[in-house]
Amino acid sequence: MNVLVLLASIIALNTANTTMAFQADPGAELKIVYYGAKLPDLTKGALDNYSAQRAYPCYGVIATEEAAFAAIHPDGNRTVQLWVEDTSLQAWEGGQVLCVNCKDNYYPLRVKIYYKTFRDQDMIETWIETVNEGKKPVTLTRFDSGHLPIRYDDVWISTLYGTWANEARVNSEPLTRGWKMIRNIDGARNSQTSHAEVMISLDGKPREDAGRIIGAALCWGGNYELRFQTNDSDYHHFFAGIYPEHDNVVLAKGKSFATPHLALTFSDSGLSGASRNFHRWGRKYMLRHGDVERRILLNSWEGVYFKINEAGMFQMMDDIAGMGGELFVMDDGWFGDKYPRNNDHTSLGDWVVDTRKLPGGVGSLVKAATEKGIKFGIWVEPEMTNTVSELYEAHPDWIVKSENREIVQGRGGTQVVLNLAKKEVQDFAFSVIDNLMKENPDIAYIKWDANCKLAMDCSNIAYWEGFAALCDRVREAYPDLTIQDCASGGGRANWGVLPWFDEFWVSDNTDALQRIYIQWGTSYFFPAIAMAAHISATPNHTVRRTTSLKYRIDVAMSGRLGMEIQPKDMTEEEKDICRKAISDYKRIRPIVQFGDIHRLVSPYDEKGYASMMYTSEKLDKAVVYWWRTHNFYDDHFPRLRLSGLDPDRKYKVTELNRLDLKPLAYEGKSFSGRFLMESGLEIPATNNVKASLRSDWSSRVLLLEAE
Ligand code: DGJ
Repeated sequence: MNVLVLLASIIALNTANTTMAFQADPGAELKIVYYGAKLPDLTKGALDNYSAQRAYPCYGVIATEEAAFAAIHPDGNRTVQLWVEDTSLQAWEGGQVLCVNCKDNYYPLRVKIYYKTFRDQDMIETWIETVNEGKKPVTLTRFDSGHLPIRYDDVWISTLYGTWANEARVNSEPLTRGWKMIRNIDGARNSQTSHAEVMISLDGKPREDAGRIIGAALCWGGNYELRFQTNDSDYHHFFAGIYPEHDNVVLAKGKSFATPHLALTFSDSGLSGASRNFHRWGRKYMLRHGDVERRILLNSWEGVYFKINEAGMFQMMDDIAGMGGELFVMDDGWFGDKYPRNNDHTSLGDWVVDTRKLPGGVGSLVKAATEKGIKFGIWVEPEMTNTVSELYEAHPDWIVKSENREIVQGRGGTQVVLNLAKKEVQDFAFSVIDNLMKENPDIAYIKWDANCKLAMDCSNIAYWEGFAALCDRVREAYPDLTIQDCASGGGRANWGVLPWFDEFWVSDNTDALQRIYIQWGTSYFFPAIAMAAHISATPNHTVRRTTSLKYRIDVAMSGRLGMEIQPKDMTEEEKDICRKAISDYKRIRPIVQFGDIHRLVSPYDEKGYASMMYTSEKLDKAVVYWWRTHNFYDDHFPRLRLSGLDPDRKYKVTELNRLDLKPLAYEGKSFSGRFLMESGLEIPATNNVKASLRSDWSSRVLLLEAE
């Protein structure tokens, strides 16, 4: 039994290492008593020490308190007072679901507050479901997924912010008096400029390997708001939910509305500990095919952009197959009849192959890939159209648009969003995938892009409900297909979207140095198996930086490795280096993709280098990354102390992707986990390579194997 019922009204939910306790007295508000490290001996006496807080505060009765929920009743009354009626606890295979069944003490409005435990991942998801039990419509004006009171202290939060090509930058700051708000109203790409996740450090400035951390992730692809209120009380109050101001929910008689889930985790092993919980839960319960190794691919975008042609695709397939890759993905530019897709100004929605570019159609590409022993994938953007397209000419009413206003057009000056709230639009978007798959059943991978915000007034909730219905249908028809979630780069890295997808494109910025920062932040909440990281050309197409091929490889190898380059422009020596890297990646793929993360030295600390590692579940293997982040002559770095190893086992060290003329002094030698964690390894500041490979970028990848 995983629940501890202390008194009739006190309920403690336990996961392997955490406890969340409530006071649920019938005829009173639900109170939260405790959330943190497991307290198996929680007694009534201990509970008397806590001042229980409102678990899900509603607006009205105490109008001065910030609320997670607010509604307007049919008579105009704007107050809600939820009293517990009863509670129920049900087991599911990974834990339990607590339902606290509450009802307004005057109006016919029911709110069920849920808490679902994931025992082995130390995760608790919370959400609410509201039911209008009256005869007339009720309007919900605020409907957060959850609220968590956090005891006042030196509490810090780490959030992710950014923009296109600079996603997931880490921002850490103390919670001071007043409000901190993270709001995203892009509508379609809710992780481009901010993220719906946060790490809350209870012990001051967060550390990677120590300190108490609460992690929170709102599993929702649309508009959201995360709010922290630090007032004159003893608590910081955290709220998270759908951004309600564009989207009041009107509940007709008998209708219900369920919010997205807010996933909460607690770790006393610092940020990396909380990340490991998110990764394990994500791989097991959220990400599509989270237990299946991802293929190493070449994507055509940075190699040829819109210049798609059959011979060029065959050549790229030959090249990636020749380097040991397993998949080729043809990106944008392959479609359009009346309006050929030669740039981003036209053609979205006209999903017919452009036979001027590809005379043999998609079929000849799939066949060629099969003959070369690799799989084939293709890019689509099913939610979008351009005002210059045959689709828009036929269905101008299918787009999201404000009545009586000019259309706001996005990418290329003509891109608009199809209104997925309409069933016929969902049917069309489904047909984009369905037609491709019916005609070419061997397509193994779809890159699903989305490059436009929802710039015009619409119900964001209705859009995302339409998106969910579409994705459900796609997954029902094509359960095994690998689908990448891409949205102008990393615009849809969110746990509300990923259950339909296998991975996401982390950023359109493939510069290795900036990727270290972007991938670092992304790894707070998302596992490496989901993070597409590609080796690209230099000078980098976004930042124009020139880095060494080894450096680019060593960074990309810390995620789901791929290539984003024109191999035709590479030298034979460069291809050989990539061939070796791909073969080395195959050795470490299970450790990277299923392992536990330990971030060691943050690039954000600007120490001149950054380092992180993954350990295998059985602690018999690990892979360590060390990247220099700036280059000053006479730099001195400390020994690199590792983490997460078995102190009593001995690990043999092998350098991967080695180009250095001489092996490391400890190449092939073995050290105890204790030695590696306490004393650490000496990492030379530069790579000692032959003259033609010298650059100002240095990096190392080390494989550790237990003897
Ligand atoms: C944006 C994506 O992030 C890129 O990788 C590429 O697919 C382009 N769209 C294609 O238009």
